[in-house]
Amino acid sequence: MAEALFQARDLYLTLPDLTRKPLFGAAPRIEILKGLSFALPEGAITGIVGESGSGKTSLGRTLVRLLKPDRGSIVFAGRDIARLDDEAMRPLRRDLQIIFQDPFSSLNPRKTVGAIIASPLLLHNVARDGSEARKLAHEALAQVGLPESFAGRYPHELSGGQRQRVGIARAVALKPRFILADEIVSGLDVSSQAQILDLLMDLRRRMSFTMAFISHDLSVVRRLCDRVIVMRKGEIVEDAATAAIFEKPQHAYTRLLRDSIPLPEVSDGWLKES
Ligand SMILES: Nc1ncnc2c1ncn2[C@@H]1O[C@H](COP(=O)(O)OP(=O)(O)OP(=O)(O)O)[C@@H](O)[C@H]1O
Ligand SMILES: [Mg+2]
Repeated sequence: MAEALFQARDLYLTLPDLTRKPLFGAAPRIEILKGLSFALPEGAITGIVGESGSGKTSLGRTLVRLLKPDRGSIVFAGRDIARLDDEAMRPLRRDLQIIFQDPFSSLNPRKTVGAIIASPLLLHNVARDGSEARKLAHEALAQVGLPESFAGRYPHELSGGQRQRVGIARAVALKPRFILADEIVSGLDVSSQAQILDLLMDLRRRMSFTMAFISHDLSVVRRLCDRVIVMRKGEIVEDAATAAIFEKPQHAYTRLLRDSIPLPEVSDGWLKES
């Protein structure tokens, strides 16, 4: 098995429960992640599934250190990043990219697509100057199947699927070691979803990155992911290769999730029709 890019051990996360904050003093904290230990193998796409509120997004945000765990270690590329402050995290940011669920709100409406992709390249010193950043942005657009002319467009001029491609282009242009994708196809219609999945599989063949793919859609996860982590109430109930999760789920909860995948509807005479 490939070496782990991430190795998390005994990860605990609490967040203040603002709904129960007293007038004076600190809000009580709720436990969100309860002692998670897992590895993300280098080069693999690991699916993170589980019901709403099970902690998938919190886990993803902790991995890329947008949240700080209360306890435990997160070894990324051989170094424990669990307790690093913002300053110490800064040089690692390029390698920890995120593609967000909602391309409408994650892309700055006042910037052109070209600028949206180029600015992080300058910020992280991947490009030395504007013209190099522009060239790399055009390459990134081509990699996600969009014409160069899209560099001059604004987000509101694009379809949902095109916007999500821009979000992907912005991340992959930086050639990060890790990409967190949180429900990135949930807002799209079925055919745009399929196209984005094909694009991710294609990019994975051409580039090398490790991905955590958060989704509540198990049929999507089954198609894309090499491994699956199943979460429930802030804990991991199962962590195995995709085939094992779907063919021999060990946990009753995983079986329940799996059996709730809708099967394609088939009409009675489908064999004769074609
Ligand atoms: N900022 C916050 N402050 C307090 N509690 C939070 C905060 N964010 C999330 N939570 C709580 O943490 C738990 C896990 O939430 P999280 O968003 O990680 O779940 P999720 O699995 O991503 O759910 P979904 O499928 O709906 O996106 C939930 O009970 C949620 O209410
Ligand atoms: Mg979530």
